[in-house]
Amino acid sequence: MRTPIIAGNWKMNNTASEGVALANALKPLVKNADCEIAVCVPAIDIPALSEALKGSNIALGAQNVHFAEKGAFTGEISANMLKEYGVKYVIIGHSERRQYFGETDETVNKRTLTALAAGLVPIVCVGESLEERETGKTESVLDKQLADGLKGIENLADIVIAYEPVWAIGTGRTATSEQANETIGYIRKKLGELFCPKCAEKVRIQYGGSMNAGNCKDLMAMSEIDGGLIGGASLKANDFAAIVNYNK
Ligand code: PGA
Repeated sequence: MRTPIIAGNWKMNNTASEGVALANALKPLVKNADCEIAVCVPAIDIPALSEALKGSNIALGAQNVHFAEKGAFTGEISANMLKEYGVKYVIIGHSERRQYFGETDETVNKRTLTALAAGLVPIVCVGESLEERETGKTESVLDKQLADGLKGIENLADIVIAYEPVWAIGTGRTATSEQANETIGYIRKKLGELFCPKCAEKVRIQYGGSMNAGNCKDLMAMSEIDGGLIGGASLKANDFAAIVNYNK
């Protein structure tokens, strides 16, 4: 059985004090949830959120991690820095980082291996653009992202994968549950080939892209979908709680 995981991706939203207020509003609303919960917050919010989430069932996540242990990398944050504040999850290779900050499958791979070595759980993002989907390239794009991005991972169950079709992120245009399920099923099949079928059965694969209180039940009912990576709808306590409590 794969335990579902619902993670909020706050992106560049919420100052530390706004984040603490959101976390405090969220805690009572999700305390009886059956799934794992995480909020992936801006790096500078991490110390405050680390305190605010103590003793709750909400895990702390980051949105990026550098692949070097330490050194001359101005502006970057290392895995050990995250670990010291009790960070558990880290988003790696989000499409916004691929699009705006030069993230490649190679750097995704380096970050993922570094995060794993430090005991963090990487949430590795993959997904195709609208043009790639419309020109029939979805599978070949995913094949490359998975083969190159996940190279050298020893235990696939140590990571979470987020399938986020780029055309569904922040657009209000969700993949239908069937579309998402089919593509995630494809990802699992591919992982079975790249690693082993048993390992692929164990890895949790989230859907991400305009997931909200209205569509989460249908998406979460799908056999291949093990959770969600939630952007916009994670910024309001009630909306995020509704997704976390999708089965109530
Ligand atoms: P969205 O973002 O829910 O606002 O579409 C999801 C994501 O980018 O992780």
